[in-house]
Amino acid sequence: MEFIERIKKMIPDAEALLEVNQEWKSIRVNTLKIDRDSLLKRLEGKFEIKEMPWYENGFFIKDEDNIAKTEEYYLGYYYIQEASSMLPPLVMDLQQKDFVFDLCAAPGSKTTQIAMMLENTGLIIANDVKLKRIRALTHNIQKSGATNCIVTNYDARLFYKTGLKAEKILLDVPCTASGKIIKKKDIPEKWSYGRVKSLAGLQKKLVESAYKCLERNGIIIYSTCSLEPEENEEVINFAVEKLGMEVEKINLKNIKIRRGVKEWNDKKFEWWNKVIRIWPQDNKTEGFFICKLRKF
Ligand SMILES: C[S@@+](CC[C@H](N)C(=O)[O-])C[C@H]1O[C@@H](n2cnc3c(N)ncnc32)[C@H](O)[C@@H]1O
Repeated sequence: MEFIERIKKMIPDAEALLEVNQEWKSIRVNTLKIDRDSLLKRLEGKFEIKEMPWYENGFFIKDEDNIAKTEEYYLGYYYIQEASSMLPPLVMDLQQKDFVFDLCAAPGSKTTQIAMMLENTGLIIANDVKLKRIRALTHNIQKSGATNCIVTNYDARLFYKTGLKAEKILLDVPCTASGKIIKKKDIPEKWSYGRVKSLAGLQKKLVESAYKCLERNGIIIYSTCSLEPEENEEVINFAVEKLGMEVEKINLKNIKIRRGVKEWNDKKFEWWNKVIRIWPQDNKTEGFFICKLRKF
């Protein structure tokens, strides 16, 4: 089945998905270095800026290609981050002094967001398997002024072998990234079912390892920027049926969300209305899938 035929099985407005374009870039204020109003004052006049309704530290910027060339950017006062990518840390119930694993962390958009949400308290283990991407991760952590991160370079499928356990794990897994269709118009042509299946296999192994690294009563926030049910609902179904995890309902305010697909490949997902799908055409952002899993 081709990309668009599959989308039509998921939503009634598949055409809108193909047509939507992104006009605004987005940034996240780095509150470890500056408060939002002071940054806003410095940027007003340089850019056209809009508040992000769902996150007080997010702003949309009409880009003049200079967004990564300002003094404020070099100083680490803001981080250029896709608007929907700011959402997973918002549903982690972060509390100061938390011990958090970010198992697929590079280049560190969410690691640095979590670090600032913890106000530099607690500890984040920011892990990634790819050495090249670890360089970007460490650079971004240093630039952000975060001092509560340790960077590790493991294959997260084997991370449980460290024997370390956390109560909160972010699992922002490698995926086909079909939610980036708002920017990459050739996604339908380049789409391949083989790639979806192969990444889905990896994602299930990553969830299983994260489960083993989780304290009892702890949570995994599983996220992708993919639209494919094999990489989203089917991975969650594996965590529920094979690992005995429970899906907890998440909500977000001031953003149009939709819930998960109810069934796919002859499997029914009873918890479909507890997970969140962000469709690009709804908020003019990249697509995202977010789910909270608890271990009992
Ligand atoms: C979607 S990106 C993560 C983006 C990151 N969380 C952020 O917000 O900036 C997925 C990451 O998973 C990493 N990755 C792929 N396979 C992995 C594995 N087996 N173990 C750990 N990391 C892996 C990739 O190198 C990539 O950096």
